[in-house]
Amino acid sequence: MAIVSSAAGSAPGPGSTRGARPRPEAVDATRLIDPASQPGDETDLPLREDSLRPRRLADYIGQSELKQVLGIAVTATQSRGEALDHVLLYGPPGLGKTTMALVLAEELGVRCRITSAPALERPRDIVGLLVNLQPRELLFIDEIHRLNRVAEEILYPAMEDFRLDLTVGKGTTARTRTLPLAPFTLVGATTRAGSLSSPLRDRFGLIQRLEFYGLEDLQAIVERAAGLLGLVLEPAAALEVARRCRGTPRIANRLLRRVRDVAAVGGHGAIGAGLVAEALSLHRVDDRGLDASDRRLLTLLLEGHGGGPVGLDTLAAALGEDPATLETVVEPYLLQLGFLQRTPRGRVATEAARRHLAWEAAA
Ligand code: ADE
Repeated sequence: MAIVSSAAGSAPGPGSTRGARPRPEAVDATRLIDPASQPGDETDLPLREDSLRPRRLADYIGQSELKQVLGIAVTATQSRGEALDHVLLYGPPGLGKTTMALVLAEELGVRCRITSAPALERPRDIVGLLVNLQPRELLFIDEIHRLNRVAEEILYPAMEDFRLDLTVGKGTTARTRTLPLAPFTLVGATTRAGSLSSPLRDRFGLIQRLEFYGLEDLQAIVERAAGLLGLVLEPAAALEVARRCRGTPRIANRLLRRVRDVAAVGGHGAIGAGLVAEALSLHRVDDRGLDASDRRLLTLLLEGHGGGPVGLDTLAAALGEDPATLETVVEPYLLQLGFLQRTPRGRVATEAARRHLAWEAAA
């Protein structure tokens, strides 16, 4: 899979970027994924995560409702020869939003251009991306809730009518010029669907939530990744990684790499559940997947505030964390486990959280 960084605003046409080195200042603005390319074609170092990503819907484990909805949309769209409707994917980080965008591009046989809202600071960043899209291509915008107002307003006619409305000149001489765009698909991803403005949200034809993965799916994801990494992993060991990865494939794959390190250093061949537990305890990941940040949060609530309720900002300040990170990265899994509750008066640690920490302290 060729992954080519390119400058927003100067993105070249299809194929023309192969083998080209981006100018240093241009890196990071966007990446192109060309489904026609072969492994090893990379002109830029791929992200570590990319090697373990599924490339087709059939290889994508879990999220069955999402796969069914998108599979139907892809097939119907292809039979009509149209661009896929715009897709908004939302949910906690690490559940496969970017992966799904790449899978969609692969299924549609088109390129996917990847960017994120904070990289689209100036109007010309988003304009440059839009005018260079070929028919039916995907534009993936991560953290789409962080788009600025000007970029959002450029997107409205682009999404609705494949049209760019540009203002030329200033003051009394300002005029609007309209440029046609190729029919394209915007795939937006966000951890905060509620922070999207409603005009933007309303322009997505498909709005799908990604859920935390169940143990069986996670075990299958870990076994698949182990195969790709050339590891011999017992099924019980894959299940042990699955138990500790917070319902999140990205974390599962990260933990698996740590287990691989410990196995390599210890000279182990086949990896069993005991080795996984030992390796992940070393990284302070407990048997329910809680890490040091989770334990600090729960301990602060239980020991510092009698279990709560405590406001998010107070918790964040005491932990030295950003409230938004606490809310979107740390809390969702604790809520899912039933260790934390959000109440109108603040966060509350549950009896289950108290029992878990007490059990851990005694172990
Ligand atoms: N790797 C990361 N996420 C995955 C998924 N949903 N299916 C298969 N492999 C994965």
